[in-house]
Amino acid sequence: MARSRLSSSWTLLLSLVILLGCLIIPGATVKHDNFKKCSQSGFCKRNRALADDVSTKGSSWGSPYELDASDIHFENGQLQGTILKSISPTQKVKLPLLISFLESGVARVTVDEEKRMTGDIEIRHGSQARKERYNEAQSWALVGGLDVSKSATLSTEADNGFTKVLYGPDNAYQAVIRHSPFSVDFQRDGQTHVQFNNKGYLNMEHWRRKVEAVEGEQDVLGTQEDEGTWWEESFGGNTDSKPRGPESVGLDITFPDYNHVFGIPEHADSLALRETRGGPGNHEEPYRMYNSDVFEYELNSPMTLYGSIPLMQAHRKGSTVGVFWLNAAETWVDIVKSKADTQTHWFSEAGQLDVFVFLGPSPQEISKKYGELTGYTQLPQQFAIAYHQCRWNYVTDEDVKEVDRNFDKYQIPYDVIWLDIEYLDDRKYFTWDPLTFPNPIGMEEQLDDSERKLVVIIDPHIKNQDKFSISKELKSNGLATKNKDGDIYEGWCWPGSSNWVDCFNPAAIKWWIGLFKYDKFKGTLANVFIWNDMNEPSVFNGPETTMPKDNLHHGNWEHRDVHNVNGITFVNATYQAMLERKKGELRRPFILTRSFYAGAQRTSAMWTGDNQATWEHLAISLPMVLNNGISGYPFAGADVGGFFHNPSKELLARWYQTGIWYPFFRAHAHIDTRRREPYLIQEPFRSIITQAIRLRYQLLPAWYTAFREASVNGTPIVKPQFYVHPADEAGFTIDDQLYLGDTGILAKPVVSEEATTADIYLADDEKYYDYYDYTVYQGAGKRHSVPAPIEKVPVLMQGGHVIPRKDRPRRSSGLMKYDPYTLVVILDKNGQAEGTLYVDDGETFDYERGGYIHRRFRFEGSSLVSDDIATHGSQSAAYLKTIANVRVERVVVIDPPREWQERTSVTVIEDGAKASTSASLEYVTQEAGKAPYAVVKNPNVGISKTWRIEF
Ligand code: NOJ
Repeated sequence: MARSRLSSSWTLLLSLVILLGCLIIPGATVKHDNFKKCSQSGFCKRNRALADDVSTKGSSWGSPYELDASDIHFENGQLQGTILKSISPTQKVKLPLLISFLESGVARVTVDEEKRMTGDIEIRHGSQARKERYNEAQSWALVGGLDVSKSATLSTEADNGFTKVLYGPDNAYQAVIRHSPFSVDFQRDGQTHVQFNNKGYLNMEHWRRKVEAVEGEQDVLGTQEDEGTWWEESFGGNTDSKPRGPESVGLDITFPDYNHVFGIPEHADSLALRETRGGPGNHEEPYRMYNSDVFEYELNSPMTLYGSIPLMQAHRKGSTVGVFWLNAAETWVDIVKSKADTQTHWFSEAGQLDVFVFLGPSPQEISKKYGELTGYTQLPQQFAIAYHQCRWNYVTDEDVKEVDRNFDKYQIPYDVIWLDIEYLDDRKYFTWDPLTFPNPIGMEEQLDDSERKLVVIIDPHIKNQDKFSISKELKSNGLATKNKDGDIYEGWCWPGSSNWVDCFNPAAIKWWIGLFKYDKFKGTLANVFIWNDMNEPSVFNGPETTMPKDNLHHGNWEHRDVHNVNGITFVNATYQAMLERKKGELRRPFILTRSFYAGAQRTSAMWTGDNQATWEHLAISLPMVLNNGISGYPFAGADVGGFFHNPSKELLARWYQTGIWYPFFRAHAHIDTRRREPYLIQEPFRSIITQAIRLRYQLLPAWYTAFREASVNGTPIVKPQFYVHPADEAGFTIDDQLYLGDTGILAKPVVSEEATTADIYLADDEKYYDYYDYTVYQGAGKRHSVPAPIEKVPVLMQGGHVIPRKDRPRRSSGLMKYDPYTLVVILDKNGQAEGTLYVDDGETFDYERGGYIHRRFRFEGSSLVSDDIATHGSQSAAYLKTIANVRVERVVVIDPPREWQERTSVTVIEDGAKASTSASLEYVTQEAGKAPYAVVKNPNVGISKTWRIEF
């Protein structure tokens, strides 16, 4: 009796504690139990154990992989051979090796498994799964850059036991391939920068027949291998049948003398990657890449998130190199720093080993070469880089119209309003709720009146309901993903029971494209664009909230093989659909995706998913967005305001001041949050937010120019410190300030509560000027305290740049199209400045045929000059005509020479004009500490013209 009373009071206490806990932090952290730790993932555990074993054995360890020296061929820039893996004193597994030396100077190493290539294996459980190792990741991720080098040659230098290949620019690179054990050193200018299998962790788990282990029998490693995770694995109530058994691929990649590594998004972590084998400040777990819908994700964590790009850069003063691990299966990366080296260990659950090596030497070179392979950012429509207003949900078409009117009433610019899943009829995509959205066309027309757009959500799960025609078509035409038994896979998502369109299937893509035609997706006009969410795919009742790995896709690839590219197959299909909505109506599609892989930059923007309205989430958004930028996918942003919970007014204002620096700038909020459209926020916060949004709009010409750069060179749109100042070691780990394109604009958003100043780190000794009042900051290698009261975004401009702006506030970017420009000229120490401007029609593909202007502005001596740097084409003349009357209305020169005080006018010479003209010059002195400036009012030169202004 006493015992039970005791236990019941304990139960009561426990319940109270739990209840209290719930009240204080309403589910604020991720549910770790839903996601695997390395120790719960068979192949992760096995590869880590191998690394541990090798480390313990030290020099007594011999990697069982050797390159068959009698069978090496080098022809046309490619080396072919066979790696032999010893699995017993008499048995060797053949692993075909191909090393391609590409014209670009990139090297690609591919290793496959002969038995599986020839189909000489058995698959268990009668599964239909393919026998080969997955070799199609490249057809989703790569679009070019694969031409093999004509000049790469075998080195003639005799060195027994090694094969050496000279390649790269002037054959100054060398791949030193050791035969036994197999390893490769990649050298540039005689120095090794990247090493494969130098530690001996290479691991290709070869196919084997399941046999009952004989007690005490030892394998080649001298140990009894633990088969516990080879043949099936259970997690969270789901059992993975693993019909092919263990098949992971692993490799150590060392960057000797490199102390910093960056990349491998998506993780909510610092930009500089941390060590992952424990110790103070380090992670315990490897960085994981397994695209997942992680509810209430945690910060400073190597846990997986919604997307992945397996591109890593290693950086040190004077050199940047990189690797791209092309594998679509679940992947983990361990990072350990030893003395000056960074050792990384990569392993994927399935697929070929396929790795690209970039020898830099600069971060820009990596961006450029990686972009040659995976494609560059699509130049978005102009509206897409302006401000997006979203929430889950705008509840009726009248609600949307009301929000639209309110933005105008309060004179807050915005370009796009979004509809989340509640616009649908019963969560059926391609429909409208007839009660709440009876007149979508009327709503879209109102938006169009001010050149605004609508984005609607379309997810990959299709409500499983026979009377829903799209569901019927999906199922009866065999277009859905299948389960391990080859039946249509069924799981749970927003509509309840659902099936998933399989966009690996060309027939499914074709069908999907058809669904977006205006006569099919009724209620949509040309100003409607698409949001692809939940495409990891998210499956509420699936293992780790996604599909079972033994599900089957088109061609009988297992979901295991393709998981990380699954999201982009769906986005690609949507992209095609948007191109083909109507014959002859060719507009650049805009698609937002949550899940991504290398190559997603060609079709879409991304956002960092379901963040929270906390200062910590605001802060982490910067390294996350910066990381995407250096990883080839710069069109990135985070939900402004935080998705879950209600931000304070201060947090919201600071979030807008930060969000204006995301290449993708969208406010979004969970359905349970209070309304927080900027005009609803009390003063002074409403004005503060309005000013921030207007700053974004003012700088749209500079943003668009930065996007153009990204679209041709792969350059990030906002750049981190190390990228801009690669030789300044003190700045390598700084990830809370950013540079906008090549404009010299350096922003440091405030991400902490009640801050009144921001410390901005300056790497060089150029003068930097406050964006608003031209206060001067100078001094290399130190932090400068910049005032940052709540109404101010800390922004500096580096001397030496010309920044293009549009200063007239309007309702939307579309309405600014023909507005005049302001040029801000910030002179450097030598009295010079330079900048560029790219402009096109902002919506069509005419720019591909010369329909754009590209100007370079230079200030030299005492003149500002505008030169044409465009490549002309068939559309040039027509486009030039459309903007012939767009002019420069103001030139502001910051820190001009003192002599200008005496001058009151400038001479303006425009090409083709009959005579020179003059314009007034006003010189303004300021109090000490603030630079003087001079303003030329209405120089009246065409933005598309060649001209000179003489001061
Ligand atoms: C999950 C997305 O991350 C979120 O942004 C969206 O609001 C919900 N799905 C509902 O569609």
